[in-house]
Amino acid sequence: MDYALIGGTGLEHFSLTEQSVVSVETPYGEVKAVIGKLAGQELVFMSRHGQNHAVPPHLVNYRGIIWALGELGVRKILATAAVGSLSADYRLGDLVLIDQFLDFTKNRPQTFYDGGQQGVLHIDLTEPYCRDAQKVIIKAAKNLGLVVKNRACYVCTEGPRFETPAEIRMFRILGADVVGMTSVPEVVLARELGMCYATLGMVTNEAAGIADHPLSHAEVMKSMKELEIRVAQLIQATFEL
Ligand code: HPA
Repeated sequence: MDYALIGGTGLEHFSLTEQSVVSVETPYGEVKAVIGKLAGQELVFMSRHGQNHAVPPHLVNYRGIIWALGELGVRKILATAAVGSLSADYRLGDLVLIDQFLDFTKNRPQTFYDGGQQGVLHIDLTEPYCRDAQKVIIKAAKNLGLVVKNRACYVCTEGPRFETPAEIRMFRILGADVVGMTSVPEVVLARELGMCYATLGMVTNEAAGIADHPLSHAEVMKSMKELEIRVAQLIQATFEL
């Protein structure tokens, strides 16, 4: 099974044909995945936050998820992520390919290589996100007449709270375009297993202090609902290529 789709916030379910649920034992606990077909292609679907968005970003079993995908033979992962925008270049409803990240997480295991028997590994992240996968997504978007913005820098916060306006001002100065809570360590762990990993961001809100109102998870979910059809079309078209 070469391909996987990791569904983020608002993409807790994704309908595949011939689908079945499998349980994978990993060193990080049991992980459930859906196996099925999309556009005739075999695919694993994994909901990052669980079926009902029950797992918050700081408690997602990132190592379990990526390990399980490795066990299932996955080599290429497309992940989705709801993001807030820090820049006028990225507007509400935009689809964005993430190109770089800034890591402001605080308390997450970030490696499979904890020393001892597991050894030590220092991976290269000059290009953290897989260019080949990005090219396919861009082509699929073109075929559909959808615009996907490229080269966004994602700042990953620990969550589950949203940021303060002062933090957002700092992240802007540091070069972040969009903010989310999950791409790190997911992208890092996928690279440790040598997988091709790309993230499709969906701008669900303006970041704190840019928006003229307080943020809420409900706002993010409402925006995701509005993006749902476009995102599903793009994912389908990507797997058709
Ligand atoms: N901040 C952090 N994570 C997010 C946001 C945000 O504004 N929007 C969607 N995920």
